[in-house]
Amino acid sequence: MRHSTIVFLKTLAWAACLGPFVWLVWCAVTNTLGPDPTATITFTTGLVTLRLLTISLAITPVRRLVPQLAWMVRFRRLVGLFVFFYATLHLMTWVALYTGFDPKAMSTDIVKRRYITAGMAAWLLLLPLAATSTNWAVRKLGGKRWSRLHKLVYVAAVCGVVHYWWQVKPGVLTPVTITVLLGILLLARPVLAYTQRRRSAAARVTAA
Ligand code: HEM
Repeated sequence: MRHSTIVFLKTLAWAACLGPFVWLVWCAVTNTLGPDPTATITFTTGLVTLRLLTISLAITPVRRLVPQLAWMVRFRRLVGLFVFFYATLHLMTWVALYTGFDPKAMSTDIVKRRYITAGMAAWLLLLPLAATSTNWAVRKLGGKRWSRLHKLVYVAAVCGVVHYWWQVKPGVLTPVTITVLLGILLLARPVLAYTQRRRSAAARVTAA
């Protein structure tokens, strides 16, 4: 793919990823965050985190299934860093607006509310991934160790979904769609690896 096309697509990706943040800032400035601004900010940042996380996990299976889309891998780091950006905004909303920066209220919430425990676990799992997203970190860790560490993104996704389910009211099914999508993506990895192994084995038999 041409360099100018990649630059154009990267600009689009930046604009799309920054969109919800700009929208939140705009609503805050114009006082249009709705009757419960805290809920609007929490809802938007939480949902965007999960959606971007899903997109970042979809990149590898999509490029394996459709080799013409292999260029998508160049966007994985960008999307991944925006996942962390929104997860941190979401966390800071809780720190500032739910607990009022009170360490005691924070620790009580983390221990007593299981959905906060799961959310916190998801954020803590994303932290080392964001910290090791630079080329320098990849070189320092070595490709193998780096990709082993980055498998934590799957655990973070599971914690994020569990957090979502645990905070909705009983009987509310809004997290179903994202759960199914993430389930498919979690299964896609071993299934694709298995079919690739079988294809390579068949090719070896044919060649012999
Ligand atoms: C990767 C990490 C996380 C993801 C993907 C995530 C995702 C979500 C989602 C999708 C919602 C539901 C939004 C809605 O429909 O109203 C939500 C709500 C919420 N999350 Fe998170 N979250 C994460 C981490 C955290 C952390 C670290 C905290 C705080 C320690 C947190 C605190 C909350 C709170 C307070 C709510 C609102 C609950 C309510 O409405 O009563 N989340 N989160």
